[in-house]
Amino acid sequence: MKGIVLAGGSGSRLAPLTKITNKHLLPIYDKPMIYYPIQTLVDAGIRDILVVTGGKNAGDFLRLLANGKHFGLKHIGYTYQEGEGGIADALALAEHFSEGDKICVILGDNIIQGSIRAAVDEFREQARGARILLKKVPDAERFGVAEIAGNRIVNIEEKPKRPKSDFAVTGIYMYDATVFEKITTLVPSGRGELEITDVNNAYIREGTMTFSFLEGWWTDAGTFESLLRAGNLVAQSRQPASRVREKVNA
Ligand code: DAU
Repeated sequence: MKGIVLAGGSGSRLAPLTKITNKHLLPIYDKPMIYYPIQTLVDAGIRDILVVTGGKNAGDFLRLLANGKHFGLKHIGYTYQEGEGGIADALALAEHFSEGDKICVILGDNIIQGSIRAAVDEFREQARGARILLKKVPDAERFGVAEIAGNRIVNIEEKPKRPKSDFAVTGIYMYDATVFEKITTLVPSGRGELEITDVNNAYIREGTMTFSFLEGWWTDAGTFESLLRAGNLVAQSRQPASRVREKVNA
C-alpha cells in the first residue's frame, strides 16, 4: 500500500503564524508538524510515501525532509497543489503516484498517539472499497461526523450544526484505486472546496465503506487551541508514566 500526506491548504486559521511558512512546518513540541503523519505511515509499514504540498514555502519541505532518511526511508515523493481547492483536490494529484495500488491518506495536521497498523493490515485484506477511522470526541461539530446504524456507517456530514453522533471521521483514509474516478464527479462545496466527506459518502452509497475506532488520543492542529493541545499531548506522552501520575495527583 502507498502512503500520501496532504500538506497543502493555506492554514488561514493559524494566521499570522502561517504568513511566512506552511502550517505543517510549525512545531508540535519538539518536531515539525509534518513529521508526525509521516511517522504514522512508516509505523504502519508503509514505505512508499508522497507529500502533497502547496503555497509559497513548498521548497522548505524538500529542505526539511530531503530523501526521508530521518524516517529510515530511501526516498520521498513530492507534488504541488495550485491554490487550496480542498482535501479531495489535493488527493487527485496523487493518481499518477498510486499506480492503481491501494492508498492510505493522512492529513498533514492529524497527530495520533497510537498506531494504525491493524487497520492498514485489515484494509490490505479488504477486496475493494474504503476504510476510515473514527474517534469519539466532545466537539463533533468541528469535523466530518459519522451517522452509524448497527455496524454500518450510513452517512457522513461535514461540520454539522447538530451532529448525529459523537464520532468524528479522523483524517486517516484508506482507498482503493476507484477513489480518483470518484473525485472527478465531485462539485465544490459551500466553502468552495472538493470535500473528502463527499468522497467517503460515495463509498458509503456503493456499500464498500468499512470503519474501525482509533485507539489512543487523536487531534488535529489547525487552530490555535488544537495546535497547543497537540503540543501538550505529545509532550505528556514523552514523559515517563510516573511523572504523569505525579502531575495528575498534584
Ligand atoms: O481533521 C479531520 C477533519 O479534517 C475531518 O473530520 C473533516 O471531515 C475534513 O474535512 C477535515 O476538516 P478540516 O476543515 O479541519 O480540514 P482543513 O481544511 O483544516 O485541512 C486539513 C488538512 O488537509 C490540512 O492540514 C492540509 C490538507 N489540505 C487541505 C486543503 C483545504 C490540503 O492538502 N489541501 C487543501 O486544499
